[in-house]
Amino acid sequence: MKTNLMKKLTVTALAMGMLAGCGQSDGANSGNTGGTGRHFTVGVAQLVDHTSLNTIRDAMFDEFEELGYKDGDNFTIDYQNAAGQISNLDTIMNGYASEGVDAIVAIATPTAQTAQNYSTDIPVIFSAVSDPVGAGLVETLEAPGGNITGTSDEVQVDQIADLIKEICPEAKTIGMLYNAGEANSVTNTTNFKKYAESLGYTVEEATGTDLTTLQQAADVLASKVDVMFSPNDNTVASGMTALSQIALDHKVPYFVGADSMVQDGGFATVGIDYEQLGRETAKMVVDVLNGEKAGEIPVKVFKDDLNVYVNEKALKDLGIELPAEVKNNDKLIMVAEKTDDQTEGETAE
Ligand code: TRP
Repeated sequence: MKTNLMKKLTVTALAMGMLAGCGQSDGANSGNTGGTGRHFTVGVAQLVDHTSLNTIRDAMFDEFEELGYKDGDNFTIDYQNAAGQISNLDTIMNGYASEGVDAIVAIATPTAQTAQNYSTDIPVIFSAVSDPVGAGLVETLEAPGGNITGTSDEVQVDQIADLIKEICPEAKTIGMLYNAGEANSVTNTTNFKKYAESLGYTVEEATGTDLTTLQQAADVLASKVDVMFSPNDNTVASGMTALSQIALDHKVPYFVGADSMVQDGGFATVGIDYEQLGRETAKMVVDVLNGEKAGEIPVKVFKDDLNVYVNEKALKDLGIELPAEVKNNDKLIMVAEKTDDQTEGETAE
């Protein structure tokens, strides 16, 4: 586990190095002092370790460095991980409040919701919150209000349902699997269901609150439906390897809401690049540290530049042949089978 993480960090660092020459749009930050001014301390809280949230975190840390904020040098990052326990989030936020950090960065919806309770004095910049309005974090995306802003990753459910139609034209029923306790998943599944029903699908729902209950729900669901769908649900993403195996055992194509979930065994998705989202979050943090008011910075929504991700191994195991319109899509990324010496979250293109 430890070696994996170390390797992953190295891989990410290398990738960053290679990208460094590609020019960087740092717009609003072009005038920042790169940390040569005051020494800032930022609390970075992450809900749980899963491939996507780890990618976001690593990209954010890389971007801080590139903007001149070097952790342990002229800048301090107090990184805390709640290990999937909501109760830990309160402890973490309490700690940040008493420590008097300059800003709180909250990765994923439940983290942001807890952080908001401490946001009167300390600005909060959230990362990858699918529905900031629905989660009660901001008044509008354009003008958040309060002392909070951030990045959003609303799932493009219509494009995923369209992909289902293209790849599985005979499917009639879709089973949705998610944790109803995640506000992000409630929004994304509600939107997905509405659109899928407009295409003529029958949509079934199954929920769970942890891996055990999700596994039971997945097993029942997979025996009833033609294809499955999960949005970018943190609880599902944390158990993706086991859950995708259940779908495969039932020969059910399992469509998901994020690239990382395809890397971890899901069948396919249409989705954003989370590394870019992480980098953009870091830029917003720097803007706030430099005096911009969080509540006046519009939420940055990531819904363009989407790729189609398909898991090669699942494709083979399911015996599915991709239709020409998917095969010839220049946005198609085939995600290779994970081997022992491949690190989590790494794809071979
Ligand atoms: N959007 C999720 C939220 O609002 C967080 C998230 C980002 C996520 N990437 C993901 C969840 C990938 C599952 C899979 O909380």
